[in-house]
Amino acid sequence: MNRRELLATGLALLAPRSSVAASARIDILPDEPIGTISPNIYGHFTEHIGGVIYDGVWVGENSKIPNVGGIRKALIDHLKLMKAPVIRWPGGCFADSYDWHDGVGPRENRPKRTNFWADTPYLSKAPAGPQKYEPNEFGTNEFARFCQLAGAEPYFAANLRSRTPSDFYQWIEYCNSPNGSTSLAELRAKGGSPEPVNVHFWGVGNESWGCGGNFTGAEYAVEFRRFSEWLPRFGGKLSLIASGPNVDDYAWTRTFFQTLTEKNKGPLRNVFGTALHYYCGSTGKRQSTEFTDEEWYKLLEQANRMEELVRNHWQIMGEVDTQHLVKLVVDEWGAWHETDPSIDPAYLWAYYPTLRDALVSGITLDIFNRHADKIPMANAAQLINNIHSSFVARGNKFIVTPNFHVFRMYAAHHGNTSVRTLFSAPSIGSASPRLAGLSGSCSIRDKRVVLTVVNPDIQNPREAEINIQGRQISSARATILTSNDIHAHNTFDQPDVIQPRTSNVTQTSVFRFEPRSVTCLELETA
Ligand code: AHR
Repeated sequence: MNRRELLATGLALLAPRSSVAASARIDILPDEPIGTISPNIYGHFTEHIGGVIYDGVWVGENSKIPNVGGIRKALIDHLKLMKAPVIRWPGGCFADSYDWHDGVGPRENRPKRTNFWADTPYLSKAPAGPQKYEPNEFGTNEFARFCQLAGAEPYFAANLRSRTPSDFYQWIEYCNSPNGSTSLAELRAKGGSPEPVNVHFWGVGNESWGCGGNFTGAEYAVEFRRFSEWLPRFGGKLSLIASGPNVDDYAWTRTFFQTLTEKNKGPLRNVFGTALHYYCGSTGKRQSTEFTDEEWYKLLEQANRMEELVRNHWQIMGEVDTQHLVKLVVDEWGAWHETDPSIDPAYLWAYYPTLRDALVSGITLDIFNRHADKIPMANAAQLINNIHSSFVARGNKFIVTPNFHVFRMYAAHHGNTSVRTLFSAPSIGSASPRLAGLSGSCSIRDKRVVLTVVNPDIQNPREAEINIQGRQISSARATILTSNDIHAHNTFDQPDVIQPRTSNVTQTSVFRFEPRSVTCLELETA
């Protein structure tokens, strides 16, 4: 890493170069583009786990809860507000126990199956509902309709552990074969979708190093070749996502790429991305709303680790894939806490995200923006009633969380060009490497510059001089998400405790970033 790259990570400390009283400095370099920020970096994930699908997404056509053909209307409306680009389904670990045939055809004939998560000790106190015994009311057509209503692209995860390449082939045929062309297209039409639903993104298994088969990277590479070598494309494009590493399992990445290409490099062209999974937090052992100041910083430092994971896996991928044909898809990320004790225990890992989690979102999305050349898609886990959710729902109650606000604020980056930006501010926090005093990302479209910044400091605002090389700022608008209380979160009783506020900015060269905040600055330049 050279000095400039080090600064861009926010890991370094640089004394301000000018005499301005600001203690920090942000240098935006429009002439150093990184890549286009794919809107799909702002993707989501819905698994048949806990209260995500049943109650979260699917309330049923006969429900009194406002719905569109059985799908929760409030969710659809809010997904449009946050411009959700892509949604992954049906898992997660559930995907490798799922037979897609169970979720098509007349709903009343669909079988009930044991859910992947039924036996977890976490569900021991839960009654025998859809969280334990999958009713298959929500299947392929329902998910495709959900995506269509929300304006998002579907991303399916196929079962590699317990089904065959032929099942995978036929699921693609069911989704994508032309109207009336195959028996499966006819079955799809009976489910309400005569036209192809055109699913382009397909995960080939999920966490194949663990719940998805407990393979080694080398074993999985052979399976991947078998599943991906010949698939029907119906004149369209398939973007296949290989199961990638767990956190810093660099051996997985290395052996997967080596074995995938052991005969020749051809199979690289079959891989759109390899899927990195990284959760920060206590992996379900601590409550989201109970933490000390020290734990605030610790979680944010853990979130920041995404930077090193992206860089390191990318470098290893390049040892074999020297042209970087394959990208990194971070299709599960988020801060993982315990199920909130006030929430039904069947709603596995559902909790109320706090301001701290919103900063995790900001830090992570900024990292993705800074690596727009490497990351074409990412999916926060999970959309509703689960880990790092943007929404919490129970029956007719529905609230947005601070994560929703961050996704909505950051939508200003969609499709822009990410540009190299140097953040120089004294570090804070306790761990090593310590947290950057300010971190963020910047994107440009024509004269509009979008700068998102996280100030993790619990006590102190940070004044930063903002300099856009070769441009003058003519006007600026700031949207700020913060609270006096680091534990602030929305609940069903108090749904608007934390929400952003937007205002025009008069002093444009030095900006005061509030303590414990996520800020989106939209700058017009001349
Ligand atoms: O998101 C919850 C679970 O975490 C997913 O099912 C699995 O892929 C991961 O381990």
